[in-house]
Amino acid sequence: MTAAGPLITAAELAELEAAVGRAFAGGDDRHLRVLGYGEISSVLAWDTARGPVAVKRLPPFPDRPRFDAYAATVADYLAALAAGGVTPVTTELASAAAPGGAVVAYLVQPILPAATLGPRRLAVAGGDEVEHVLAAIVERAVAVVDGRRGLDAQLSNWAIDGERLVYLDVSTPMLRDDAGGERLDGEVFLASLPWALRPVVSRFLLRDILATYYDPRGAVLDLLGNLHKERLARHLPVGLAVAARHVRPAITAAEVDRYYRADARSWALLQRLRRLDRAWQLRVRRRPYPFLLPGPIAR
Ligand SMILES: Nc1ncnc2c1ncn2[C@@H]1O[C@H](COP(=O)(O)OP(=O)(O)OP(=O)(O)O)[C@@H](O)[C@H]1O
Ligand SMILES: [Mg+2]
Repeated sequence: MTAAGPLITAAELAELEAAVGRAFAGGDDRHLRVLGYGEISSVLAWDTARGPVAVKRLPPFPDRPRFDAYAATVADYLAALAAGGVTPVTTELASAAAPGGAVVAYLVQPILPAATLGPRRLAVAGGDEVEHVLAAIVERAVAVVDGRRGLDAQLSNWAIDGERLVYLDVSTPMLRDDAGGERLDGEVFLASLPWALRPVVSRFLLRDILATYYDPRGAVLDLLGNLHKERLARHLPVGLAVAARHVRPAITAAEVDRYYRADARSWALLQRLRRLDRAWQLRVRRRPYPFLLPGPIAR
C-alpha cells in the first residue's frame, strides 16, 4: 500500500471481479483490456478513480490462511529481489472473500509505459543500446539468482527507462526455504492446469522447470532462448557476448537453439491442453472456466 492508499479499492475490485467473471462464464475476454499475456494468465488494465492499474488475477485460494501464506511469500520475494539489486515495480495484493471460505485475489501494479517494456525496447534499439539493455539484465540476473532465490529474467519481465530497470513478474515468487522446498504453494498454482496433468507436472516437471530459474547460467540461457520467441534473434550474437562475460561455461548459439526448441514445445503443449480443458469445462460440463488463457502464441 502506498502513502496515498491502495492502488485499487474494495468496490473497484468487486467491479473488476464481476467483469472477469463474465469472461469466465463465456470463455470470452473481448470486453477486457489485456495488457499482456503470460504463460499462466492474462494481465489486464483496470480503471480506478486514481487512474488505470495493471491487474493479474491469481488462482483462487481455498482459504484465508493459504492466501496469507502466499502474500507473505510475495512480500519476502519483493524484499529478496531488492536486497539482490533487482528493483521490483510497486506491487500490492487485493483480495476479497468468495463463497465457501475461498479468497479471490489480484496482484496490482502501476501500468508501466508500453514503450519501456523489454521486448519493445529491443525491437527498436540498435547498436550500443542493445548491449546496454542486455548487459543490465544479465548483470542483475546473475547477481540475484542463487539456489534459494530464483528469477525469470526474460525480456518481457523488465521495464527499462534510461538507467532504471524495474522487474514486474512477481506473481510466481521463486523462493526456497532452508530445506530446499518451494515456498510457493504448488497446489494452488497447479490448479490452473487440467486436473489429470497436475500430479505429473508437480512430481516430475515443476522441479526441472524451476531449476533453470534458480541457476544463474540457466536464467541467462532462458533469457537468450526467449529472444527467439520475441522475434529478436538478431540480437543473439550480442546477447551471447554479454553472457560470456558473466557465466561459465560460455553459452553457445547451438545450446540456445536447442534449449528454446525444447522449451517452446513443452509450453505449446501445455497451452493446447489448457484450451482443451477450457472447452471441456465450458461446453460439456457447463461450468465457468476460471482462468484467462492467452490466445495463440507464435513461437
Ligand atoms: N505493471 C505492468 N504494466 C504494464 N504491462 C504489464 C505489467 N505487468 C505485466 N504487464 C504485461 O503483461 C505481461 C505478462 O506479465 P507477467 O510477466 O507478470 O505475467 P506472466 O509472465 O504470466 O507471469 P507468470 O508466468 O509468473 O504468471 C508482461 O510481459 C507485460 O507485457
Ligand atoms: Mg512474465
